[in-house]
Amino acid sequence: MTLAQQFAAAFCAPPTVIARAPGRVNLIGEHTDYNDGFVLPCAISVESRIAARPRGDGMIRVMACDFGGAVAEWPLDVPYAADPAQPWADYVRGMTAAMTQRGHALTGADIAVSGTIPKGAGLSSSASLMVGIGTALAALADLAIPPAEIARMAQAGECDHVGMRCGIMDQLASAAGAEDHALMIDCRSLDVQPVALPQSAEILIVHSGVARGLVDGAYNERRAQCEAAAAAMGVAALRDADMAMLDAAALDPLTHARARHVVTENARVLAAAEALAAGDLVEMGKLMAASHQSMRDDFQITVPKVDALVAELQALIGAEGGARMTGGGFGGAVVALCRADRADAVLSALTYRKPDGTPPLVLRETACAGAGLVMQ
Ligand code: GLA
Repeated sequence: MTLAQQFAAAFCAPPTVIARAPGRVNLIGEHTDYNDGFVLPCAISVESRIAARPRGDGMIRVMACDFGGAVAEWPLDVPYAADPAQPWADYVRGMTAAMTQRGHALTGADIAVSGTIPKGAGLSSSASLMVGIGTALAALADLAIPPAEIARMAQAGECDHVGMRCGIMDQLASAAGAEDHALMIDCRSLDVQPVALPQSAEILIVHSGVARGLVDGAYNERRAQCEAAAAAMGVAALRDADMAMLDAAALDPLTHARARHVVTENARVLAAAEALAAGDLVEMGKLMAASHQSMRDDFQITVPKVDALVAELQALIGAEGGARMTGGGFGGAVVALCRADRADAVLSALTYRKPDGTPPLVLRETACAGAGLVMQ
């Protein structure tokens, strides 16, 4: 059944809008976004789809097609409250709460949600759900909300309500993606510069099969360490620090290492945007390798299975391209960039197996446009 058919079966009327919001893969720039730094993600073809129809009674009633048709409902005018029985709905609650708090007059709605983004892969299924909900609800209420504002509200919904103190990268990549381009995002100004992906390159995503479960605590701890380092140096954010300042500051070794990751990663993103624009896959490969090493040794957010998968991909890809873990860390997917004419050979030679001994999920991706309506 299509999403529209599932919607009609559940709510006895067809949807009036269907929105889509892509997942994202980050090519480089990890844990830099909440430090006001730089990231280089692209929106990808796996996505969330949201079908919706207005209701006159101010209720939100949402059905999760991918969770056996489970339904959650709440009135728009009550403050956010998590529902431990249906954690998937917290992201929708967070988004409606954030939109209402920003003063957007929403209408009640029946909503059906489905998606193709693998869960626990670090490919932003939650951000895409929230951006998709925002896009659909804006259309229902006839509100013209710019992509960056949808992204900000999705981030606020996740930080302030759901409780993961994330940055803006995932939401902005989903909202503002550009076909065939990565996005060079300045997470302080929210300036977004599209960078054309070289036609000679292909993006491969390999899911390690190590699910990123219950990692919000570790994520928030890393963020707190970065904030402590910035405060100790007297700067607003680690974006404003360089290695000389860091070495001069009297930081404990752990905090120093965390900050070193962010300071060096910001520099790598700037270099990667140039290398990508120049079609220089060799330089991209070096930068991706250095990024992974920094995540492994300084920021300590990788796990041994992911390190092994990255090492195998790097060896198979060779000098023209590279591989690194993508996303928040502690499992999830690896992103690789390789010569398009080598991709088949790389994938058929890959021997990596998930913890359960089976072959990993592989996505061969292209960069896609950001969120929008597919039906209205
Ligand atoms: C998660 C967060 C992002 C970002 C990445 C790490 O995906 O949602 O804001 O911090 O981790 O780069």
